[in-house]
Amino acid sequence: MRVLVVGGGGREHALAWCCARSPRVDEVLVAPGNAGSAQEPGVRNVAVAAGDIAGLIDVARRESVDLVIVGPEQPLVDGIADQLTAAGIACFGPNAEASQLEASKSFTKAFLDRHGIPTASFERFTAFDAARDYIERTGAPLVVKADGLAAGKGVVVADSVAMAVEAARAMLVDGQFGDASREIVVEAFLEGEEASFIAITDGNTLLPLATSQDHKARDEGDRGPNTGGMGAYSPAPVVTDAVAEHVMRDIMLPTLEGLAKDGIDYVGFLYAGLMIDSTGQARVLEFNCRLGDPETQPILMRLASDLTVLAEAAIARTLDTVSIEWDPRASLGVVMAAGGYPGSYDNGAVIRGLDAVGDAAKVFHAGTREEGDDIVTAGGRVLTVCALGATVAEAAEQAYAAADAIDWKDCYRRNDIGYRAIQRERDGS
Ligand code: AMP
Ligand code: GLY
Repeated sequence: MRVLVVGGGGREHALAWCCARSPRVDEVLVAPGNAGSAQEPGVRNVAVAAGDIAGLIDVARRESVDLVIVGPEQPLVDGIADQLTAAGIACFGPNAEASQLEASKSFTKAFLDRHGIPTASFERFTAFDAARDYIERTGAPLVVKADGLAAGKGVVVADSVAMAVEAARAMLVDGQFGDASREIVVEAFLEGEEASFIAITDGNTLLPLATSQDHKARDEGDRGPNTGGMGAYSPAPVVTDAVAEHVMRDIMLPTLEGLAKDGIDYVGFLYAGLMIDSTGQARVLEFNCRLGDPETQPILMRLASDLTVLAEAAIARTLDTVSIEWDPRASLGVVMAAGGYPGSYDNGAVIRGLDAVGDAAKVFHAGTREEGDDIVTAGGRVLTVCALGATVAEAAEQAYAAADAIDWKDCYRRNDIGYRAIQRERDGS
């Protein structure tokens, strides 16, 4: 069979690598892919942008693609699954209606409230005066969120009333995020540790993936500006068996039932971003309608099942007939980024040392491009260097040993990816 992966980041390189390992798969196409997917055995890039839905349908037809797997959220929100399905092409990913779980925080908060799923208490506003009154009445800390997609920048964790009021003003009055901030959600600040809980669903059955955790802050100790993610690992020790059971019972399955009750068909990855407090109680921070990046890279390193079988079963609504197997080892990925990211940064630096990485690690590319015989940087997050190990600590050791071999001008990485998990392993908890 032939698979088309839509997107060009580290997540998509990992998806392509994962599908190419399947004995059922003859070839994987990636649109548009990156220098890593270009060099991956059994994988070929096609020069079509992830947002060009008509172009992607053309490619799928021309190349006799049997299965499309969509990486990023924007094409899903824009209806790529609806359009591919209408064209008779199997697509693994939710339709536009279901993708509102990621595209609209206001929709999601109302959904969670309606179905009694644990989340931070909240109010929704379109008028600034009402938002300001609520913020002043409630007091800090508070979290102010633009309703729509704002490239990860639409959330302000405010530790003062003044900061929350300013965020609300910027969004509602100044139109900071355009249409995406016409409406805002103001919610209670939750204490705890975050984890990503991702599942595959066909709308009836839900198969959880291995747990994971990412580091969103740029700097060590989880400080500094928010990024797309500077590293991730799996499993996430904060999600103990008891926590996982509670998340399935009180969050994931009620979400599936809520979608069904609301008449929303959901096929694809469903990602719950959770805050887990010190008593093990989990609450939903957000939903994503796709896999996380960089969580995908370490998660797929551990996947022992055939992803194409899982995706096709979900599309056929027969997910209850398949199971999902995991490598028991831990896995960890370190993001190597361009200096300056998530602010402005240079592209075009020649990446050295990729050939020196041995078999103990796997380098997934994100912002890279081929230039003659060189591979050069072409984005903020450039590589995710992943490795397996008996423990998260051992996986980290292997991943960092490989990352040490790679370098370019102004390369930046965090050196503490996995520190919470490693601390828990040391404490034996
Ligand atoms: P979101 O896009 O809603 O997941 O928010 C982005 C990030 O903001 C999350 O990963 C958290 O680190 C933080 N955040 C969001 N909502 C809350 C909350 N209610 N309490 C504490 N931190 C939050
Ligand atoms: N790593 C977080 C995300 O993909 O949303």
